Amino acid sequence: MTRLALHKPGFAIPDRVLRLSEHAITKQIRALRQSLGEQVVLLAHHYQRPEIVALADYRGDSLELSRIAAQEHQAKHIVFCGVRFMAESAAILCQLRRLVMHPDFAAGCPLADMASLGRVEQAWGELAEVCDPSSVMPVTYINSTADIKAFCGQRGGCICTSSNAKAVLSWALEHRAKVFFFPDQHLGRNTANALGIQAKQQILWDPRQPLGGNTKTQIARAKVILWKGHCHVHTFFTPDHVEQARRIHPGCRIVVHPECTEEVVKSADANGSTGFIVRYAQDAPPGSCIVIGTEINLIARLAREHPDKRIYELARSLCPNMYKINLYNLYWTMCELGKVNVITVTDDIKKDARIALARMLEIA
Ligand code: 13P
Ligand code: SF4
Repeated sequence: MTRLALHKPGFAIPDRVLRLSEHAITKQIRALRQSLGEQVVLLAHHYQRPEIVALADYRGDSLELSRIAAQEHQAKHIVFCGVRFMAESAAILCQLRRLVMHPDFAAGCPLADMASLGRVEQAWGELAEVCDPSSVMPVTYINSTADIKAFCGQRGGCICTSSNAKAVLSWALEHRAKVFFFPDQHLGRNTANALGIQAKQQILWDPRQPLGGNTKTQIARAKVILWKGHCHVHTFFTPDHVEQARRIHPGCRIVVHPECTEEVVKSADANGSTGFIVRYAQDAPPGSCIVIGTEINLIARLAREHPDKRIYELARSLCPNMYKINLYNLYWTMCELGKVNVITVTDDIKKDARIALARMLEIA
């Protein structure tokens, strides 16, 4: 008898697996891990549950994990514990004949889904009516679908992550007069601000409105066109949270992820990728007080790993998609290595998306 796994219709985890205790399944994963040896590598994003991070061969931010996937030469199988776009990027970047597995296909990223290929192509077409498309560089945050990455690759564009957005945006503006940035308006705006681009040279493109809700003059003046997308986990934080944290923890340092709004980023002491946040906590002297605005699993882990520092959350915000990866779907993926939960990307999308991803790795 089998029971359907929660998030993937048709993908059944047997009852005998679902009945195992967390302790027992952890032991089985470790045993399996050992018997598979160098055939498999387990990657975990910083937002993963603690029990998953503890089992990983590598943990990292999006850029670090993409690099590891691209450079992996030994393992035939890469099991990616993160959200869909991360596993897809690994599948696009990894060497020939490697397979990437994602333990729960339903673990997507709502931000990535805010820019569909149809809407982006329509916007690009509308833009072409008011300015020369060869003067616009398409840049997409890695939190995007594979076809949007391919769209950028086909047009000479690039991918960025939160740790190299500044370098990629600078590169883009050295080569073309304008950047069309998908899908996270906040990372795009915070990066443009950090590069000193004036607010009036940044416009928001709302795909539900003609010309994205802009006039021809606004488009002509714009240097950065920001797609209207956001991450609900990070836009949850407000300047009030920052003010409250400073009141409750006088002298604290506040560090946030650049997917937070401009107001939150400006009121914090520092901002950066999850890898940056990890290093910020590591490098702080003992006794320091750090308040962090990002996903709660990472903050809780940092607090546990640094008992000599006071580490608090700005507010409690969990990424429900990252949380979908658990010991049960990981174990089952490892039992059926190469047979279930294998990420596939069509060859034509892979080819163009790879160009844009490889360019990113070159730039940053
Ligand atoms: P990082 O690249 O900073 O790990 O961010 C990924 C992400 O999805 C943050 O919400
Ligand atoms: Fe996507 Fe936000 Fe979750 Fe990151 S935290 S994976 S951007 S939904």
